[in-house]
Amino acid sequence: MSSSNKTTVSVIKADIGSLAGHHRVHPKQIEAANESLEKGKIDGIINDFYVSHVGDDLELIMTHYKGEDNSDIHKLAWDTFIEITEKVSKKLKLYGAGQDLLTDSFSGNVKGMGPGVAEIEFEERKSDPIVIFMADKTSPGCWNLPLYKIFADPFNTAGLIIDPGLHEGFKFDVLDVMEGKSVSLKCPEESYDLLALIGDPNRYIISKIERNDGMPAASASTTRLSLIAGKYVGKDDPVCIVRAQHGLPAVGEVIEPFTFPHIVPGWMRGSHNGPLMPVSEDFSQNKCTRFDGPPRVVALGFQVSNGRLVGPSDMFADPGFDHARMKANEIADFLRLHGPFIPHRLGSEEMEYTTLPLVMDKLKERFKTMD
Ligand code: F6R
Ligand code: MG
Ligand code: MG
Repeated sequence: MSSSNKTTVSVIKADIGSLAGHHRVHPKQIEAANESLEKGKIDGIINDFYVSHVGDDLELIMTHYKGEDNSDIHKLAWDTFIEITEKVSKKLKLYGAGQDLLTDSFSGNVKGMGPGVAEIEFEERKSDPIVIFMADKTSPGCWNLPLYKIFADPFNTAGLIIDPGLHEGFKFDVLDVMEGKSVSLKCPEESYDLLALIGDPNRYIISKIERNDGMPAASASTTRLSLIAGKYVGKDDPVCIVRAQHGLPAVGEVIEPFTFPHIVPGWMRGSHNGPLMPVSEDFSQNKCTRFDGPPRVVALGFQVSNGRLVGPSDMFADPGFDHARMKANEIADFLRLHGPFIPHRLGSEEMEYTTLPLVMDKLKERFKTMD
């Protein structure tokens, strides 16, 4: 925990109840979050904030000078979620009220308590653009492919070749969520090793990226809600913060990978593969309707300016992403035709954290050994 002249961007999110099933937040939840964070700003806990949402997840985007993992910041987010659950979600009987708040008491840090967290502390440059990605109906490994493309693939990021500032490459921190271990790998030197791991996004998840000279470049949430809770209580829908420009990938290079709606796990009952569809923050696109999905991602662009947030710009609210949305719908149609069959349904290993084991348990006694 630190207090410094460096700025920290903290994004803390939770599903604390949704309108008409699991598909979108209620405007009163957004209103209440704005009130709570405004109070946090007046009390000097945070410098600035923006409340956003994707599908059924409420997203608190905050700036401050207190560093990552700061208990005041985490407490503000936790109290905000609790208050909205009590005053809005339960009162309106929204579906799954308080679903991501896994414990009754706050113990200093929201990690492991249900909400998802991505934080990045950095020294502000002359001008500091960031893009915040927020996804619903999927899991943290969904950033592996786009983050690799942004920071290690010259076919996506021209700057890796053209700009001497990016030429030395980036270091990726990868978490093994099964073993609870982490490894750092440098690109381009170790890109094959990196791909060997992150090609399995269910187990290996990129958590942080730095430029090879140590400049913080990206931070992703890595909580696996299902593993924490020991049983399925909703997908751990992830967030990711990416810094851009002037020696880092350009904003256009940062959002380019999302023109490919790659297939991610999540969707209906957290148990199906589906395309990650880039959508506007606006409710016209930002709600998981079809088969509780398909999984989707919202991107907001900000300038971080003397500890404050200038913006946002709704990055995927652009005809430039219409084809990606169309392609996502085609992939969704194709996968849906598989019904309960793999590869639409997740493989058995991933299903371990859903309610399927209960069904298997029921059938256990009826399996006869073959001669
Ligand atoms: C929740 C989700 C949904 C639910 C589904 C069943 O984040 O992704 O697809 O899993 O709607 O929900 P229950 O079991 O609450 O009826
Ligand atoms: Mg929900
Ligand atoms: Mg969700």
